[in-house]
Amino acid sequence: MKKLLVLNHKMGMLYDEVYYYIDKLNNIDTDMDIIVCPSNIYLEAFLETCDYPIGSQNVHYEMDINNTGEISTIQLKSLGVEYSLVGHYERVSKFHENEKIVNEKLLSIVDANIFPILCFGEGESEDYREVLPKKLDAYLKEVENIEFIIFAYEPEYAIGTGILPNINRIKEVTEFISGYLESKYHKKPNLLYGGSVDSSNIKDIINIDSINGVVIGEESSNIVELEKIINEVK
Ligand code: 13P
Repeated sequence: MKKLLVLNHKMGMLYDEVYYYIDKLNNIDTDMDIIVCPSNIYLEAFLETCDYPIGSQNVHYEMDINNTGEISTIQLKSLGVEYSLVGHYERVSKFHENEKIVNEKLLSIVDANIFPILCFGEGESEDYREVLPKKLDAYLKEVENIEFIIFAYEPEYAIGTGILPNINRIKEVTEFISGYLESKYHKKPNLLYGGSVDSSNIKDIINIDSINGVVIGEESSNIVELEKIINEVK
């Protein structure tokens, strides 16, 4: 199975960098699958010119037009967006998205035939064995089939901090998550790791058996850094 790179640009990149970035990305030689999640304002530019599938970083779960500033799943679908991040820790911690909201978003994404990339992780002092099953159960309420979900294990303390958990720890937790989801849904999950991935550590992370790829945050909107990361995995 090919490894998968999800690029979460967050608020990275200015408009005059967009087409240069896309051209460079299209020309990087790699066997990996890539999904690009740019800022909403650049979605159309990426959809029109990028060779890789495009994801949104966020959606609103209601169809009601009265949600100024938000974007619905059907609007994203009508544009050609195929994936959407959901449950990202930055949305949970800074925009107060609770478990019910994450679940509603996930259900509305699935409903619109968009593939969810469900992010979740534990805090630094939390016991992952206790926290992660509870979080996953809440996020996946009413979900019967996990075949179309990409799971992204992103420990909260590793996001945007440069603090990478020990490789054995990532292995241990992702094996636990995989086992938990498999016992519940009788299907091996498509599981990624995200948090402080860069060119110095990608090789060690991507070779962990229990994950199928990685999510790259801050470094992914810098084409020079991204090329370095991708070249490490050749
Ligand atoms: P960083 O790679 O910047 O740590 O961010 C990870 C992340 O949030 C991926 O979704």
